[in-house]
Amino acid sequence: MCGIVGYIGPKGAVPILLEGLKKLEYRGYDSAGIAVIEDKNLELRKAEGKLKVLDDKLSLEKFKGNIGLGHTRWATHGRPSDENAHPHQDCGGKLALVHNGIIENFQEIKRNLEKEGHTFSSETDTEVVVHLVEKFFSGNLSEAVQKATALLEGSYAIAVINQENPDQIVAYRQDSPLILGIGEGEYYLASDIPALLPYTRRVIILEDGEMVELNRENYRVIGPGGELLNKEIEEIDWDLEMAEKKGFPHYMLKEIHEQPDVMRQLLEKPLRGSEIELPEIDAILKSQEKIEKIFIVACGTAYHSGLIGKALLEKATGIPVEVDMASEFRYRSPLIGENSLVIVVSQSGETADTLAALRHARDKRAKTLGIVNVQGSTIAREADQLLLIEAGLEIAVASTKAYLNMLTAFNLLALKMGDGDIAGNENGELLHLLREIPAQVEKTLLRMEKPVRKAAEYIKNWDNAFFVGRGLDFSLALEGALKLKEISYIHAEAYAAGELKHGTLALIEEGIPVVALLTQESLLEKMISNIQEIRARGGYVFGITQDRFASRVAEEVDFLFKIPNTADIFAPLLGTVPLQLLSYFTADFRDCPIDQPRNLAKSVTVE
Ligand code: G6P
Repeated sequence: MCGIVGYIGPKGAVPILLEGLKKLEYRGYDSAGIAVIEDKNLELRKAEGKLKVLDDKLSLEKFKGNIGLGHTRWATHGRPSDENAHPHQDCGGKLALVHNGIIENFQEIKRNLEKEGHTFSSETDTEVVVHLVEKFFSGNLSEAVQKATALLEGSYAIAVINQENPDQIVAYRQDSPLILGIGEGEYYLASDIPALLPYTRRVIILEDGEMVELNRENYRVIGPGGELLNKEIEEIDWDLEMAEKKGFPHYMLKEIHEQPDVMRQLLEKPLRGSEIELPEIDAILKSQEKIEKIFIVACGTAYHSGLIGKALLEKATGIPVEVDMASEFRYRSPLIGENSLVIVVSQSGETADTLAALRHARDKRAKTLGIVNVQGSTIAREADQLLLIEAGLEIAVASTKAYLNMLTAFNLLALKMGDGDIAGNENGELLHLLREIPAQVEKTLLRMEKPVRKAAEYIKNWDNAFFVGRGLDFSLALEGALKLKEISYIHAEAYAAGELKHGTLALIEEGIPVVALLTQESLLEKMISNIQEIRARGGYVFGITQDRFASRVAEEVDFLFKIPNTADIFAPLLGTVPLQLLSYFTADFRDCPIDQPRNLAKSVTVE
């Protein structure tokens, strides 16, 4: 959470900082600020609210300074306010510092600093860092940063400037991402690559414990022991267009419509022959007979993909699979060992809980596999094996195309690990059906827009909604409910349809919207019975089913969405489309800020 940017070079820093922050706003958007050195004076501007507020404030001023820092915040310590917004300053007002992460021992440090006479002007954990740097500063900023960070516990990426030296930025990374961008005679810093792409594609991804010193003429990366490092410069080949809305009103809608393409991209190599090619997991396949248990660990939407992954992998491999929310995983002392495979799933590859779960698994000497979207992210680098889901840049906080490709990746993995034999289907037949899915997603998108708008018109007026399903459909229902909650602020609960009668049925009242998933043939009649229980109590049921079951389902529901026919195990890949669009249009009718829902952030780098 929180995004940081930095610039040093010949150009005016402010527009570059603001542009970078725009690209990082997905990381937090409750307040923002910049610091720029203007004729040896530090100028700070901060504003509570979205970046636009700061942008408007700055449009009235003409700063020329060519070195500066910027920050967009997702509040952890202290409510969103001008005072708590970064950058923060020392007592002398000479230093300015931005921070992403959490300083866990800030209270103790603050108490000590206060005893030494430091005064604080915010409620943040961050402010202790700049006072520590002040305390240790005796002419050399890098040295002071090194001494200060040695006392910090927690996760942090920081960057600091000193008004008396307008030719230097010092930054440090520990458990929060930080990337150095190398331009022509200029340097950039950012929490994530998209903020750098308009300026440079040459980057150095800093590792934990590394510090970077940016000077006008050169840069130095310094390792944890104070040694000078010669780090490789990586070339980023991402498509900058991905960061634009391409005429869609929101990133979320654009990303929903990108799904057929990103799915094709992911399937292309593995499905080019008659057998699935996944060289990334060869090592896992070699040791497969020794794997006694598989764990899937993730957060949010990625966790929901893991629930479907579990069903597929158990069917394919016969190996028991457990799925955990990453924030719970370590604390329940899971029984992991050398013969466990721990799969961590993450769009960003930076989610703090998921990363901690991965490290825990590695400590226990389990084999680890990352299913990750962002190449070069910490999880992507630390997992033993890596399956990149290739969904491209995802900007909307609510994940759509990354979720779909996580599901696709689990399908590939299961087909590969199970030698194609999932649920008694022959490999060839399934591969053929899987190849068709991107076109079917396209078809579903075309089909859905009109009916989904109509359904959303109905749902938008309710404060509560239910999503029900059985088997794979229940896992998908969980994701459907999460999407609606996240972006439309309607309370939505997902239930295993057979479980409703054990309590939740008490909440069914006249007209309440219930989205029922009926894509699984073996569970169709059971689902229909459950729907009858709901309708008998006044629930208004929106069914989602495959074309081939439509005639059976039509009379059992109030409203029907039909997805194209496929194998039941692939149905979630299509069933997710109406769910995404339903939450999108409902939120749109309610005038919600779809891409940046309140209180949330896309990349959660705090535990
Ligand atoms: C945040 C996002 C969710 C996402 C979750 C896990 O809470 O708002 O959309 O599913 O983090 O993120 P990851 O990057 O690990 O998939």
